Amino acid sequence: MTKTIVTGGAGFIGSHTCVELLAAGLEPVLVDDLRNSDERVLRGLAEITGRQPVLHRIDCGDADALDRVFAAERPGSVIHFAADKAVGESVQHPVKYYHNNIGSLVTLLRVMDTHRVKDLVFSSSCTVYGNSGQLPVTEESATGEAASPYGYTKVVCERLLRDASAADASLRAVLLRYFNPVGAHPSALIGELPIGVPNNLVPFITQAAAGLRDKLTVFGNDYHTRDGSCIRDYIHVVDLAKAHVLALQWIAKQKAPVCEVFNLGTGEGNTVLEAVRTFEEVSGVKVPYVIGPRRAGDVPAMYADTAKSLKVLGWRTQLTLADALRDAWRWQLALAK
Ligand code: UFG
Repeated sequence: MTKTIVTGGAGFIGSHTCVELLAAGLEPVLVDDLRNSDERVLRGLAEITGRQPVLHRIDCGDADALDRVFAAERPGSVIHFAADKAVGESVQHPVKYYHNNIGSLVTLLRVMDTHRVKDLVFSSSCTVYGNSGQLPVTEESATGEAASPYGYTKVVCERLLRDASAADASLRAVLLRYFNPVGAHPSALIGELPIGVPNNLVPFITQAAAGLRDKLTVFGNDYHTRDGSCIRDYIHVVDLAKAHVLALQWIAKQKAPVCEVFNLGTGEGNTVLEAVRTFEEVSGVKVPYVIGPRRAGDVPAMYADTAKSLKVLGWRTQLTLADALRDAWRWQLALAK
């Protein structure tokens, strides 16, 4: 069976993707130094799948260590999740973000080249669309104006992959632009592990509902949207994970070199206040919240056109925002145990 190196495989999206890879009969090999995860995720993975995937506990920016992993495992493909992802932190520490996110991709591409590994799925983000005037955004919408250093690292990585694939006719790359990944595995055995105070909406909602935070601040209710709060395309992490399996299978079928981009969203936008209300409905718990000022860098609205992912990959979401919020809540409750 060909192995797939999964960098960041113990992370939020990485761990859910490992579950789906195993379910599809593929063999993930995790490369993760657990800086943003912990042993709980590995235990959860084993419990869900009945398998204990191999983990190489290294920094994937460490070229020598990564080279040794490739030499030992002889993988056929790579999914590259490992990256720093906190938008606010990237504004405070831009050099760290450019170094880690771009440096690790450069290192990975070099090691892949040495070992003649040509198939790559890369985690990108809808942040590359910046404040797109036209909604929903398609893969052809303008990119390049991100709102944060984190966002620019994704813009640069995408560009790097396009340049690399133009120069190397055997590289087969798929760039997946995630919208807002939320939720957790329905087993409540794996999920997101925010460090400190969550920056993202859903972990903040679940922590506020659990009494771990005083109250949620809704960042702005004066946008030109149906209730004044921002609109996002919240996608269940299990749906997102499944798209990675389809992307790998699609790459394997390509005869010609590819560098293809896909949006991964539901195609629907929900406001912050709608997400809060939906959470209250599925959990039966009130979320204490106040309206605060807008957050710097937030775009008023963002949601995906998903026609290309459906047509080419045969992928569409099967789970709803309510499913995602129910699963996020179950994960929050499981964390408290
Ligand atoms: N929000 C609040 N209160 C909070 C947290 C968030 O009102 O405490 C609002 C935000 O203002 C935004 C929405 O909830 O309107 C979603 O915010 P998140 O921080 O959860 O997600 P973002 O859309 O800001 O960020 C996500 C990813 C980033 C990516 C970005 C691209 O987390 O990695 O989309 O737009 F860069």
